[in-house]
Amino acid sequence: MCSSFLLCPKASSSTIIILLFLLLFFIIPRHHHHLHVMSTPAIVPNHDNVTDRSSLLVFKSKISLDPHDVVFATWNDTLPFCRWQGVVCGGRRNPERVVSLLLTSLDLVGTIPPHLANLTFLRSIDLSSNNFHGPIPQELSRLSRYLDLSNNSLNGIIPSELGHCLGLQMINVSFNKIGGYIPSEFGSLPSLYSLDLKNNSITGQIPASLANASFLNYLSVTCNQLSGGIPPSLGELSALKVLGLSFNNLEGSIPYSLWNLSSLEILSFGMNQLHGSLPRDLGQALPHLTHLYAYYANLHGSIPISLSNASQLSLISLSHNNLNGRIPPDLGSLRHLRKLILGDNQLEAREPIDWSFLTSLRNCTILEVLLMHQNNIGGLLPNSIANIFSTLQLLTIGENSIEGSIPPEIGNLVNLTEFIIRNNSLSGHIPASIGLLKNLHIVDFTFNNFSGEIPSTVGNLSLLNEICLDFNSFSGSIPASLGNCKSLDFLNFDQNKLTGIIPKQLFSISILSKGL
Ligand SMILES: *[C@@H]1O[C@H](CO)[C@@H](O)[C@H](O)[C@H]1NC(C)=O
Ligand SMILES: *[C@@H]1O[C@H](CO)[C@@H](O)[C@H](O)[C@H]1NC(C)=O
Ligand SMILES: *[C@@H]1O[C@H](CO)[C@@H](O)[C@H](O)[C@H]1NC(C)=O
Ligand SMILES: *[C@@H]1O[C@H](CO)[C@@H](O)[C@H](O)[C@H]1NC(C)=O
Ligand SMILES: *[C@@H]1O[C@H](CO)[C@@H](O)[C@H](O)[C@H]1NC(C)=O
Ligand SMILES: *[C@@H]1O[C@H](CO)[C@@H](O)[C@H](O)[C@H]1NC(C)=O
Ligand SMILES: *[C@@H]1O[C@H](CO)[C@@H](O)[C@H](O)[C@H]1NC(C)=O
Ligand SMILES: *[C@@H]1O[C@H](CO)[C@@H](O)[C@H](O)[C@H]1NC(C)=O
Ligand SMILES: *[C@@H]1O[C@H](CO)[C@@H](O)[C@H](O)[C@H]1NC(C)=O
Ligand SMILES: *[C@@H]1O[C@H](CO)[C@@H](O)[C@H](O)[C@H]1NC(C)=O
Ligand SMILES: *[C@@H]1O[C@H](CO)[C@@H](O)[C@H](O)[C@H]1NC(C)=O
Ligand SMILES: *[C@@H]1O[C@H](CO)[C@@H](O)[C@H](O)[C@H]1NC(C)=O
Repeated sequence: MCSSFLLCPKASSSTIIILLFLLLFFIIPRHHHHLHVMSTPAIVPNHDNVTDRSSLLVFKSKISLDPHDVVFATWNDTLPFCRWQGVVCGGRRNPERVVSLLLTSLDLVGTIPPHLANLTFLRSIDLSSNNFHGPIPQELSRLSRYLDLSNNSLNGIIPSELGHCLGLQMINVSFNKIGGYIPSEFGSLPSLYSLDLKNNSITGQIPASLANASFLNYLSVTCNQLSGGIPPSLGELSALKVLGLSFNNLEGSIPYSLWNLSSLEILSFGMNQLHGSLPRDLGQALPHLTHLYAYYANLHGSIPISLSNASQLSLISLSHNNLNGRIPPDLGSLRHLRKLILGDNQLEAREPIDWSFLTSLRNCTILEVLLMHQNNIGGLLPNSIANIFSTLQLLTIGENSIEGSIPPEIGNLVNLTEFIIRNNSLSGHIPASIGLLKNLHIVDFTFNNFSGEIPSTVGNLSLLNEICLDFNSFSGSIPASLGNCKSLDFLNFDQNKLTGIIPKQLFSISILSKGL
């Protein structure tokens, strides 16, 4: 229910009745007993609990499928409606009025009738993860403090009337098919702390007025069709912890004011038509940042060294940008780092000192993903590549100009599933210890200068799906042990100096389908 009836549009008949009652108490002279009644808003004419019941029955009648028989079989007169599943009545003062409707993940199919608005004491609606379709009734705006209609098939628009209910704290309509605009009225919701609109078809611009919802903690419009610029005023939302802007058609530069959002934990703005650069003091400006999603953002300039000061960072995704310069040397101080995604940029390395970031990553004891492919990284591959923690699962350094060889200690990276180093200038033998990487699914060493024999230990890689060693200088014969790799479905040894025949064991791999 709204914190203030008066500020909501179209007061319902029952609201008017309550207001009339209040008015009567002011006008008619009365004694103590009445004053006591006045102090409690619970002036409940009997017919209101009848209205509650009939409103719930209208809701029930709009459900066309209830596979788990939650509403169909149990919302009947055997029990008073306050004990129907999903119906919460409440409060000391109004024990028989509905305050919450909680029906989540029940595979319900149906529409949401405006009659729910007749539940005048309703505060929370959670119908998330069902299959409700049709529009969000604008009447709902009078009631909820908490509105979760996420993960349904709702369409239509977001009623701008929702923006008139000062009590609203949480709106989640994510994962629906909602179109239309973001109502600029949302900016006048002083209690709104969470607005989740992600994965819909919302168009238009992000209203600058949202900046007035100064209580906002969570704002996500990810995966919509929003256009226009990011309003610089968003930088005034100083309580914001999550700001999701990715996967839209936003354009223009990333406003500098965003770096003022010092409470931010999750920031995403990739996959738009934005451009800009990361501020030099990023790590100090956003010290609580845990996730930075800034891929495909036309970022230029370098990765700020201060990033390592944002000590809670767990995911850094800066791929597909135009970032240049060195990779900051102290990333290893990010103890919570799980994913470092830097592929498709123009990041550089020449001298051993440019590789110090790799040595420091030894301190990241939960690192799982390290992607550095398609950059301008050159120089000698340091042995410290093998000292990264064994938690590492994905390692891609392909499409660079890295020299040197793979150290035998690579066998430490026992959790590696993808090892992609294609198109570099790596040379030497492949160490036999590669056979220790028992979780490897994909090995791509194509376009390098590796020589010597392919170690027969590759036959120990029983989960291997793909092995590409083409365009190298391998000699000797193809190891027969590969016949043990029963999951292999792609293998390429083309353009080497291999001799002998293809071992017949390989033909025993029935699913070797994609190619040989
Ligand atoms: C009415 O609901 C109760 C549970 O609330 C259920 O046990 C009973 O079978 C239902 N009766 C009918 C006629 O569906
Ligand atoms: C409605 O209110 C009446 C009177 O207060 C009460 O007896 C009845 O049980 C209520 N009905 C339900 C379904 O709660
Ligand atoms: C309940 O709401 C509907 C639609 O908003 C309205 O038409 C109807 O008159 C209301 N019924 C009662 C009993 O208040
Ligand atoms: C949406 O609901 C479906 C089925 O109820 C569930 O499997 C899925 O995980 C939900 N998606 C989200 C994003 O919560
Ligand atoms: C909104 O709902 C979706 C799907 O039910 C859920 O994954 C998401 O966490 C919710 N958002 C917030 C801010 O709670
Ligand atoms: C969310 O939207 C994105 C982009 O439109 C889409 O790729 C993804 O499948 C959607 N996710 C869900 C759970 O609907
Ligand atoms: C915020 O509200 C004030 C007063 O209502 C208004 O003057 C201002 O323009 C609003 N700010 C934005 C960014 O809309
Ligand atoms: C950041 O906030 C400070 C004060 O908190 C203010 O002076 C400054 O103008 C803001 N910067 C931007 C770019 O909004
Ligand atoms: C930032 O990190 C560097 C080294 O990683 C450290 O020397 C410096 O003191 C840190 N600065 C702040 C403000 O934490
Ligand atoms: C890594 O840890 C070692 C030992 O704890 C420490 O001396 C070194 O400074 C750390 N490096 C970074 C970049 O945090
Ligand atoms: C390997 O990964 C699994 C989960 O994927 C994890 O439980 C295990 O601790 C990891 N092993 C090492 C040595 O990091
Ligand atoms: C190797 O990578 C370079 C860029 O690093 C690229 O220009 C070239 O096309 C790639 N060659 C192959 C064969 O993939």
